[in-house]
Amino acid sequence: MSSCRPPGFIAAGQGLLFPPAHQAGQSFHDGVILITVPANPVKSSIHFDLIMAIPTAEIPTSHTAILQHAGGELRVTPNVPVPELEPGWLLVHNKCVALNPCDFKMAARFPTPGLQDGVDFAGVVVAVAPGLGQATGLGFAVGDRVFGCVPSNKQDDPESGSFAEYVKVEAIYALHAPANLSFEQAMALSPACISTVALALHQVLGLPATPYEAQELGDKAPATDTILVYGGSSSVGLVAIQMLKLCGHRVITTCSPHNFDLVQRYGADAVFDYRSPTCAADIKAYTKNKLKRVIDPFGEAATTVLCYEVIGRAGGIYCSLEQYREALCKRKAVRHHLVMGPSIIGRGVLLPEPYGVPPDPELHEWSKRFYRGFQRLVDEGKLRPLESEILQPAGFHTVLEGLELLKEKKVSGKKLVVPLA
Ligand SMILES: NC(=O)c1ccc[n+]([C@@H]2O[C@H](COP(=O)([O-])OP(=O)(O)OC[C@H]3O[C@@H](n4cnc5c(N)ncnc54)[C@H](OP(=O)(O)O)[C@@H]3O)[C@@H](O)[C@H]2O)c1
Repeated sequence: MSSCRPPGFIAAGQGLLFPPAHQAGQSFHDGVILITVPANPVKSSIHFDLIMAIPTAEIPTSHTAILQHAGGELRVTPNVPVPELEPGWLLVHNKCVALNPCDFKMAARFPTPGLQDGVDFAGVVVAVAPGLGQATGLGFAVGDRVFGCVPSNKQDDPESGSFAEYVKVEAIYALHAPANLSFEQAMALSPACISTVALALHQVLGLPATPYEAQELGDKAPATDTILVYGGSSSVGLVAIQMLKLCGHRVITTCSPHNFDLVQRYGADAVFDYRSPTCAADIKAYTKNKLKRVIDPFGEAATTVLCYEVIGRAGGIYCSLEQYREALCKRKAVRHHLVMGPSIIGRGVLLPEPYGVPPDPELHEWSKRFYRGFQRLVDEGKLRPLESEILQPAGFHTVLEGLELLKEKKVSGKKLVVPLA
């Protein structure tokens, strides 16, 4: 659906012609102008009752973002058009971002000049396009503090990405930041990791992603289990440990000895040194050769081999978050699957095999329910922000420096967070 930006205001709607402000109802509230548009504006095919916007003087038409250039090189790029909104979307003035390995991996693997980088963001809503629908109960308004993650380096939507001054996000995938959660803490929750782990639990491991989902399933909920989260000191590993513990599972993990205490503080029941020559044997002994479910964030040859070795004699499921070598997946009793976090929204991921994912309407419906559970977990303070390093000085150049640290594997047991101003 195309969108338009009426002169003087950011808003959205197909073919909508706005009446002059004096013909519409106009009010001022906390520095925000609320424009009430007549139910049937001239030439509109969409019924809009209320458009919320702030003067475009505060929302520029162009901004700075990190985009891919030739060969996938990531550069801080000025004068990028600010995205226009479609019905049901929010525009967020970005205040803080978190860094993830996909932020450098995507551009390196699929270099496409013009695509916007970055997934995690936290900031303030500056425009709400109509179309949220009363029934959703999402209740976003201009001025709200929000956070979340958006798809990045998106072949079919180049302006989707969080490394930008203004970020567009579909309201159903945005989260309210409670007043007691700073933007830095919201980023340290690691929303992209949370959505990836949720997808891994739901789609591959056959488990509820939240305790609320388990409660709704009642007797039909799968029994709690012992699960190996390989690499538990990684961001995605610490998130997985927390989410599995919230659902009542027993979690075992691997990491370097200097992170043993960290993973236990986040809930791990047992931890093993993945560099120890007896690691696999120790895990098999601990699980009595009955382990069924494994999450491997890395999909490296050594990690795949170890994970396959520790899955018990009856077989199970190997869930990798990175492309792994299928040739190493030799046990017929073990199913293996790659999870692509951005596919959680069910609209498909346009990438070459094996990263491409077809649209999945059922997943789309489930993900909307999951995000309401995600919001509840945040509101109830059940998710703990990861230990983080706030990189300085604020700004996009520091984002690029932080990505170098991730690329060089200089980050252990903490989330890199970068304020933008
Ligand atoms: N599919 C998806 O959508 C998706 C989403 C999120 C993440 N991922 C993938 O998950 C992986 C981790 O991402 P992240 O953001 O969590 O990274 P991260 O926090 O930067 O990971 C750093 C940690 O990983 C551990 N580590 C690194 N290589 C390891 C290895 N070969 N074996 C065991 N532990 C290792 C280190 O543990 P120690 O210092 O304790 O040794 C370190 O603490 C990346 O490969 C990323 O691409 C995929």
